[in-house]
Amino acid sequence: MRTNFLVIGSGISGLNFALHAAKKGRVLIVTKKKLIDSSTNYAQGGIAAVLDKTDDFKQHVKDTLETGAYHNNKKAVVFMIKNSAAAVHRLMDLGVEFAKENGQLKLTQEGGHHHRRIAYVGDYTGKEIERILVKRVKNNKNITIIEDAFALKLITTNKTCFGAQIIHKNKIQIILADQTIVATGGIGQLFEYTTNPPISTGDGIALGIEAGCKTKDLEFIQFHPTALEKNIYPRFLISETVRGEGAKLINSKGEYFMEKLHPLKDLAPRDIVAREIYSQMKNGPVFLDSSTKCTGHTKKFLQNRFPQIYKHLLKDGIKMEKNLIPVTPAAHYICGGIVTDLHGRTGIKNLFAFGEVTCTGVHGANRLASNSLLEALVFSNQIIKKLKKSVTKADTKIKSPKLLAKNSRQTKTALILKQEIKHLMWQYAGIIRKRSLIKQEAIPQMQKIITKLFQLSQNKTLTNQTLTETENMAKVGLLILQAANKRKKSLGCHFVQAI
Ligand code: SIN
Repeated sequence: MRTNFLVIGSGISGLNFALHAAKKGRVLIVTKKKLIDSSTNYAQGGIAAVLDKTDDFKQHVKDTLETGAYHNNKKAVVFMIKNSAAAVHRLMDLGVEFAKENGQLKLTQEGGHHHRRIAYVGDYTGKEIERILVKRVKNNKNITIIEDAFALKLITTNKTCFGAQIIHKNKIQIILADQTIVATGGIGQLFEYTTNPPISTGDGIALGIEAGCKTKDLEFIQFHPTALEKNIYPRFLISETVRGEGAKLINSKGEYFMEKLHPLKDLAPRDIVAREIYSQMKNGPVFLDSSTKCTGHTKKFLQNRFPQIYKHLLKDGIKMEKNLIPVTPAAHYICGGIVTDLHGRTGIKNLFAFGEVTCTGVHGANRLASNSLLEALVFSNQIIKKLKKSVTKADTKIKSPKLLAKNSRQTKTALILKQEIKHLMWQYAGIIRKRSLIKQEAIPQMQKIITKLFQLSQNKTLTNQTLTETENMAKVGLLILQAANKRKKSLGCHFVQAI
């Protein structure tokens, strides 16, 4: 199969890029599950941008840098925020109907922001953006979609990418492309507790590493402070915008503990809030208080503003206007990834990357809330100016491994190893880390898992989606652990404790 643009992944950045690229040539989107299965679909909060006359571009930059512990690439931050309002307007032009009042966008607030600057659609902003983009993509004659297609390997020779090998309908297929775009999202599934969907297994970072891309800032894993404390996988997210509308964190003694801890109180940057909840939980459960008594909001307001969350909690008998919501931190976002420039270039010719899989440098050591949809959109708005056709004979040289059956012994063992990886990452690369344990215990254990996986694949001659996905998780997990081991001092969401 040949195409001009091969897009791997179907979240906001992949779909947005596809719509731009379709004006230049044929686009093929391959996605691991269904088109709609992406982290974007899970994003509740909104998209941060300078949209209000009383807001200031400089203040959004400052909030992004402060939250990122000044580890950010300032040039990239300025670029993203300068283009923020245009990005929101692009979504509106495509048909996204953000909340409005008297014809003006209504804006909300999240942790680390000193201004209400987040455009939203109820508590399902990502779902609505994804719905609109999917509709547009499906109606575009220049875009073809292959669902349930797993990208096994990028095809590269001499630092140039020619497309990818994919598993589709139980066969390995070769897709040759003039330009290949990795937009596969994040890595939350590497952790036992996460808000991320099952597809977030770090595949894009693994594909990039194998192709020779550089990675950066992998140690900065953001833990969302308020996932619902209930054994469901992934954890259900209680959006930070609930605190943006006045809800407060409360401990088992009935204390609103964030009040004294930070000038921004419950809307302090996420790393600070997540760590505080984690330490409070040693003495008992932690709750979010969105009750009318605490927030002044009526049942009707809460139902309208947070329809998804309200309904979900009600199934557990929790009424937002009355009852406390039990919360706990969970892995949410990786701030680092494949190093890209402002145009999504990866350093490998004809290979681009957009969205959470990248490290553009905008997030620094800790992402400012609702800057992720913004980053995904702004950077994927980059239009590849000249479509250079690849002239390659790569298809004659490509060797493919043999496919293993879904119920093979190797698959079953890989599924067990997946659980071991999740457990290991949560234990050693979680909210509070101990470097000595990362070095002495976590890294050797992950290396053993990698060796086992290598044996299962009989030196990579056998594979299937489960096995490759588990290899990807182990490979990316090891890099996260190594990066965490290298960074000696706490910074942003990398928090180390001496023992
Ligand atoms: C949330 O709604 O709390 C998540 C938003 C984000 O991750 O930026």
